[in-house]
Amino acid sequence: MTQKILLLPGDGIGPEITAEAVKLLTVLRDRHGFDATWSSAPIGGAGYDAAGHPLPPATLEAAKAADAILLAAVGGPKYDSLPKELRPERGLLGIRAGLGLYSNLRPAILYPELADASSLKPDVVSGLDILIVRELTGGIYFGKRETGVETDYKVGSHVIPSARVARDTEAYSDFEIARIARTAFEAARLRGKRLCSVDKNNVLESSQLWREVVIEVSKEYPDVTLSHLLVDNAAMQLVRAPKQFDVLVTSNMFGDILSDIAAELTGSIGMLPSASLNERGQGLYEPSHGSAPDIAGLGVANPLAMLLSVAMMLRYSLGRSDLADRIQAAVKTVLAAGLRTGDIAKPGEARIGTAAMGDAVVAALGH
Ligand code: IPM
Ligand code: MG
Repeated sequence: MTQKILLLPGDGIGPEITAEAVKLLTVLRDRHGFDATWSSAPIGGAGYDAAGHPLPPATLEAAKAADAILLAAVGGPKYDSLPKELRPERGLLGIRAGLGLYSNLRPAILYPELADASSLKPDVVSGLDILIVRELTGGIYFGKRETGVETDYKVGSHVIPSARVARDTEAYSDFEIARIARTAFEAARLRGKRLCSVDKNNVLESSQLWREVVIEVSKEYPDVTLSHLLVDNAAMQLVRAPKQFDVLVTSNMFGDILSDIAAELTGSIGMLPSASLNERGQGLYEPSHGSAPDIAGLGVANPLAMLLSVAMMLRYSLGRSDLADRIQAAVKTVLAAGLRTGDIAKPGEARIGTAAMGDAVVAALGH
């Protein structure tokens, strides 16, 4: 059956790296028996420009009807002064919620060819291969929000007669914790069989429930070794000795922060793809990096995270692990051949542009 892919190029460097993804998809279709069609829709700032909203209803409908979604990036300074409900990030949060994409997989892999791109010592990071599983549709990102003036607001021993107060709520149900825990245990089962759950259970009620439920779910996975870390310690351990980890599972907010740390360990956020999946296995795939407005339109952005997102999409949603392996091998080939975009080039090393990197990957796919 022909599979339907929705492309969401978004903003900044998004359209440029999407063009490279389309180049790759076309070759997979024409030469490697990949039976798929694709179409594009606007999201983020581009959604606002085209239809007055960062997630136009037609885009959400197209996303629901797709077998998989490939999103490039959203956001840019042009949209900074928009009211918060129209900001580009709302497009991203809206599609996560609208499709129920609760399960966010963020691998951080250090390619040996890029070992000195990391700010950490090569022996601390060489061979790094960890996976952060982030809960993506709950917690403080989607909890109750309030902003207003409150009377007699207590701050320690002070009572403020009239205070402007803003409140966001961290809330998790056992249902949400159990389902993301299962995603993480399943992923650990396919890798090193070690799972570390990250919480703040010495302070937060929601983290106490988190830990309890993760322990309950662990009984279904006796072959996976479970450990727990408090989030502050986890952040420290990620920088001190990241190779101790296999899979980490955590809440939406902690996962947002820890996944940026993990990405930076590799020194090349331009290399990291991610997947966000729902209960039906439908997925949205996107690079871990942002829209890089400073280099947008210059043709110098690194398309590899986007091309590796295509690989993740083929593996997790489209049943073509064979093609995913092929793309990953092609990326290794071009890196081994010394091809570098600016973000992964050493000072003085030759740099190629976005399209040349896309061409090189396609050429390295083989027949
Ligand atoms: C991410 C981003 C988003 C998030 C922003 C753009 C809303 O930082 O995907 O990690 O916080 O989830
Ligand atoms: Mg983030």
